[in-house]
Amino acid sequence: ASEPALRSRSSDTLASARGRVPASIWAKTSAQLHLRRNHPLNTLRKHIEAYIHEKYPSTFRMHSSLPPVVSTVQCFDDLRVPLGHVSRAPTDTYYVDDTTLLRTHMTAHDVELLAAGETAFLLCGDVYRRDTVDRTHYPVFHQVDAARLFPSGTSRKQVEEDLKQTLSGLAKALFGDVEMRWVEGYFPFTHPSFELEVAWQGEWLEVLGCGLLHREVLQRGGVSDDVEGWAFGMGLERLAMVLFGVPDIRLFWSEDERFLGQFNERGIEARYKPFSVFPAVEKDVSFWVEDISRFHENDIHELAREVCGDLVENVKVVDTFKKGGSLSLCFRITFRSMEKTLTHAEVNKLYNEFRTQISETLPVTLR
Ligand code: PHE
Repeated sequence: ASEPALRSRSSDTLASARGRVPASIWAKTSAQLHLRRNHPLNTLRKHIEAYIHEKYPSTFRMHSSLPPVVSTVQCFDDLRVPLGHVSRAPTDTYYVDDTTLLRTHMTAHDVELLAAGETAFLLCGDVYRRDTVDRTHYPVFHQVDAARLFPSGTSRKQVEEDLKQTLSGLAKALFGDVEMRWVEGYFPFTHPSFELEVAWQGEWLEVLGCGLLHREVLQRGGVSDDVEGWAFGMGLERLAMVLFGVPDIRLFWSEDERFLGQFNERGIEARYKPFSVFPAVEKDVSFWVEDISRFHENDIHELAREVCGDLVENVKVVDTFKKGGSLSLCFRITFRSMEKTLTHAEVNKLYNEFRTQISETLPVTLR
């Protein structure tokens, strides 16, 4: 979502600079929104589980409280994620130390569950990715992820058919009678891989990723060579935003009854009505970056979240130019509360603290 130049810092320099999880992120690890009564993410999880239970009675084991700290082996190595892959970079991922991290996807649990002898499971949990600040991105979100093994002798063609039939049925259970299409996908842990898209309000919406589990992944899970399996994974927030008409991802973290109260008992039929749209305040911050290899755009996004919490709605680059060897960047910060009108004093306090933190913690010079 940004210029390659802003994402060029090598992960080597970063490993030491960024080896920590902010307190604000740790705090989210106990929230378990997907298990909270009447929360829209819980509603969605239950709907998906109910579909799978109905289609395959007493086949799948459900896991919805697997702890989010996993090893790099679980999250990447076992799943054949290449060493240089962006998802491994400390700019994109929250490392606890060199070998443990907050999982970036629920697939991180697949190999251990296969190794424990499970043959069909459905997982739901919180996953973590450093990202930009806007209405559809949040450093924590939730995924449903599943895998199923088949009796030996089942052909790959049959497995692929079962996968596609299961998932188009799931999409119907969520979206109703919509048009769908399969597109080729790429995941290191499945082959072949596919993505399912549904036609939604005039656009193709990507709903999930899936495929046949890669032989090497099955082997790491101790699965015998004549057994095939499928896997799929989907993000819940994006689906919930579309299905329930939730305009900003921060709302899922709101404690406001005017939000939460709208999801009581209405199940999947709930449709969010904004209780009010409060005014936004925009502020710009400009600085020089002398050494581009030591700067990453995600640093600014993360700092904005750390300082402003959920009162920051959007952070984006609005101007960039080079002079001599230095790069000048201007970021526009949009402040908005989901719950009230912010006062100028409140915004200025956050803005000033944000500027202070930029100049004290990042290798840049404020202009
Ligand atoms: N883990 C993938 C993601 O986070 C989704 C996925 C799961 C794709 C299982 C294929 C199979 O995007």
